[in-house]
Amino acid sequence: PEVFDAETLAQNIRKVPHWPKQGILFHDITPILQDPKHFRLLVDLLVYRYMSEKIDVVAGLDARGFIIGAALAYQLNVGFVPIRKKGKLPFDTVSESYALEYGEACVEIHTDAVKPGARVLLVDDLVATGGTMQAGINLIRRLDAEVVEAVSVLEFSDLPGGQLIREAGVPLFSLCQSE
Ligand code: PRP
Ligand code: MG
Repeated sequence: PEVFDAETLAQNIRKVPHWPKQGILFHDITPILQDPKHFRLLVDLLVYRYMSEKIDVVAGLDARGFIIGAALAYQLNVGFVPIRKKGKLPFDTVSESYALEYGEACVEIHTDAVKPGARVLLVDDLVATGGTMQAGINLIRRLDAEVVEAVSVLEFSDLPGGQLIREAGVPLFSLCQSE
């Protein structure tokens, strides 16, 4: 019989050399999303992990964190909050700038998106340097809410990102690890 586990997900992450820049090996999770069994497996693994936890809201990082985070929020019966790249959110925001492997970026959250004291799950597709996830953590903390766990499909265990997030006091749960 076919076994579906996180290893199945790892096998369906596509590695694209030199994208978006020379020297970057891009890890593309869209093959997971476009297959109904694998998309369901991804979401269900997370639902089972969090369904008995007290979670108030799921926050997703632009852009693939929206896809995974929204499906997870729907199944956990909680709201979903987008953390967007700069200049996309229409209402009052707080912003965090951060360094990427390939450039700089800034993310924003609406100031009323999470209530003080809210217990938040923060979701993205992957953690490399950890800069993006850390920026999301900083935003949620600036709204006096708590990141219960940072969630990613893939973590690069040879990069310090995961360690940095854990040192910041946030548990990181990654479904797959890559050397
Ligand atoms: C990728 C990925 C993560 C981030 C991880 O996003 O989706 O969000 O990099 O890298 P880090 O741990 O070094 O921050 P990217 O910034 O390429 O933008 P996108 O999600 O809009 O494609
Ligand atoms: Mg991203």
